Amino acid sequence: MDFRWDILVEYAPFFLKGTILTIGLSIASILIGTILGLLVGLGKIMKNKLLAWPFTIYITFFRGTPLLVQILLIHFAVVPLFLGKTNPILAAILTLSLNAAAYIAEIFRAGIQSIDRGQMEAARSLGLNHVQAMRFIILPQAFKRMIPPLGNEFIVLIKESSLAALIAAPELMYWGRAMQGQYFRVWEPYIAAAVIYLVLTLSLSFLLNLLERRLATE
Ligand code: ARG
Repeated sequence: MDFRWDILVEYAPFFLKGTILTIGLSIASILIGTILGLLVGLGKIMKNKLLAWPFTIYITFFRGTPLLVQILLIHFAVVPLFLGKTNPILAAILTLSLNAAAYIAEIFRAGIQSIDRGQMEAARSLGLNHVQAMRFIILPQAFKRMIPPLGNEFIVLIKESSLAALIAAPELMYWGRAMQGQYFRVWEPYIAAAVIYLVLTLSLSFLLNLLERRLATE
């Protein structure tokens, strides 16, 4: 098996551009997905079942259907409905954020519900109201437990952003496929893409490890 370094060198600038867009898509979707996920998670644990119902439906839909279907639906149907034209980068960020939010909502819910009831009762008996008890007693403890699953979700999101190639958002995988199409070669583009994704996910796990260790010192 020969390995054509020359075409890799030719495509290096495109892979670089693609990697920057992949990082951009991932960071934007992590931020939006986390904020949205927190809101949806809080929505789902509301006492009023009627108000919690739409949040449950949201989570059910986004966890229960393939991301590929969601990205195609949002790209070809939802975004054109609002903008009058397609916009691959917007559609990719929107889909990844909405999808991640559904998973993150469950991570928040699990984190909050994993804190012993007695913590809330003790906080309330000391005179804190519900919101204060949440803010100062429950959430700080819950947050620590959420970090490993959140980190997991962020790593999944970086990898899932590769589906944006199918709606022609020019991220890393898009250029890998372009290179395959131009030269009818498979090893070079996909090994290069795999190595770059690996570097991205390894860097993120390194950062998450640091964060976890810092929070563990109490
Ligand atoms: N590939 C999966 C799908 O088609 C996406 C899984 C997303 N998982 C996650 N933890 N965010 O739906």
